[in-house]
Amino acid sequence: MADNLSRGHWTSRFGFILAAAGSAIGLGNVWKFPYITGQNGGGAFVLVYLICIVLVGLPIMMAEFLIGRHGQRDAVGSFAALEGRRSPWVLVGWGGVAASFILLSFYAVVAGWSFDYVVKASLGTFAGRTPDEINAIFDTLVSSAGQVIFWQALFIVATVAIVLGGIRGGIERYSKILMPVLFALLVLLFVRGMLSPGARQGLEFMFRPDFGSLTPKSILDALGHAFFTLSIGAGTMITYGSYLEKDSDLFSLSLRITILDTVVALLAGLAIFPVVFAAGLEPGAGPGLVFQTIPIVFSSLPFGSLLAVVFFVLLSFAALSSSISMLEVSVAYLVDEKGWGRRRATMLIGGAAFLVGLPSALSFNLWSDVTPLFDMTFFALFDVLVSSYLLPIGGFLVALYAGWFWKKEEEKAELAGRTGRRWLYPVWHFLLRFVAPISVLVIILNKAGLFE
Ligand code: PHE
Repeated sequence: MADNLSRGHWTSRFGFILAAAGSAIGLGNVWKFPYITGQNGGGAFVLVYLICIVLVGLPIMMAEFLIGRHGQRDAVGSFAALEGRRSPWVLVGWGGVAASFILLSFYAVVAGWSFDYVVKASLGTFAGRTPDEINAIFDTLVSSAGQVIFWQALFIVATVAIVLGGIRGGIERYSKILMPVLFALLVLLFVRGMLSPGARQGLEFMFRPDFGSLTPKSILDALGHAFFTLSIGAGTMITYGSYLEKDSDLFSLSLRITILDTVVALLAGLAIFPVVFAAGLEPGAGPGLVFQTIPIVFSSLPFGSLLAVVFFVLLSFAALSSSISMLEVSVAYLVDEKGWGRRRATMLIGGAAFLVGLPSALSFNLWSDVTPLFDMTFFALFDVLVSSYLLPIGGFLVALYAGWFWKKEEEKAELAGRTGRRWLYPVWHFLLRFVAPISVLVIILNKAGLFE
């Protein structure tokens, strides 16, 4: 087992915020949030999502940082450090390792599309195309198993390369530069969206709630996405928290990360939906939505081809700063608990994630008709398994642990640090004890049809 001195730590508070925000901000914000908002009818879904972020996501994120910082180990080891190796809570750490691993396997497939779009945009493939032609370009890409797998493999290789560099040299260094640039570009796209003829319809779609469109499934999607986008329930924030120094102010860190993440998702939605409406596209088009709309926006902008390149480069980096956090969960486990070298652990897990991701890569082409369960492709199954179940259940258990089981004094001391916010502990504790676990349970049981 590695001792604490040999573990990496973040070089600065700023570096940590960017790395954790880098984990949170990713395909979830730019790719997934718009498309599931489209599929779930807009405004009401967005509202439920925002409520889940504040009442459930933020307190659980704080709990994860706290557990990791206290344990100073990987997700499994942190629970073991707190409760002993034989404690059943260690299973929560295991659940996180499993969730982040499976997530990495199919995340790499979508991130690979973004890599491919960098090349396409550099070659000017989108310039002067009609929306239909841009659609066709996407379809051609995903229907080629060879291309999808090639890019998926490259994405995994890039993820492995960064994680090999460790905490400071790899993860933190990249996040510091790239996140701010992505943000600026999204603001530009947002402004462009607001100036487009579809702006009004786009805004209404996102912010005028039509509660009739809410189904148990869409509520579960909103909850699941709150976990997905904040990278919680997957051991990630426990692992990242373990690289924090003891005196950091967890509340203000978590709040900033949550706000950044939410703003990026909303900006992405507001950049995309006006275009969807102006171009007469279908908001519920599914996983291809971003790849079909963003090139349209750029094709109408001055320097559009160049900006499209920049955009997909940044999206790829946003995906990378998330995927490295997924990989880091399993790597930290092997390094901290099994005493493996970082190199060996990173390569092995990276390779395994690639192999496990193959059925997801094939789900859009050769195996698009293969639906092993519930009429879903492998890709859809893995996504539902992780996003709708593993993450919410993982987060639920973290909330239960921090809300009911963790020794109070220890926890209080750990949270308060030196900040002296008296209200913080009681509010946070109440949300973790009651609001978060009850919402997760009700939503999952409701989806399972138990309340009908
Ligand atoms: N939050 C990331 C995103 O939005 C995905 C993620 C989930 C990363 C869980 C790590 C752990 O893309």
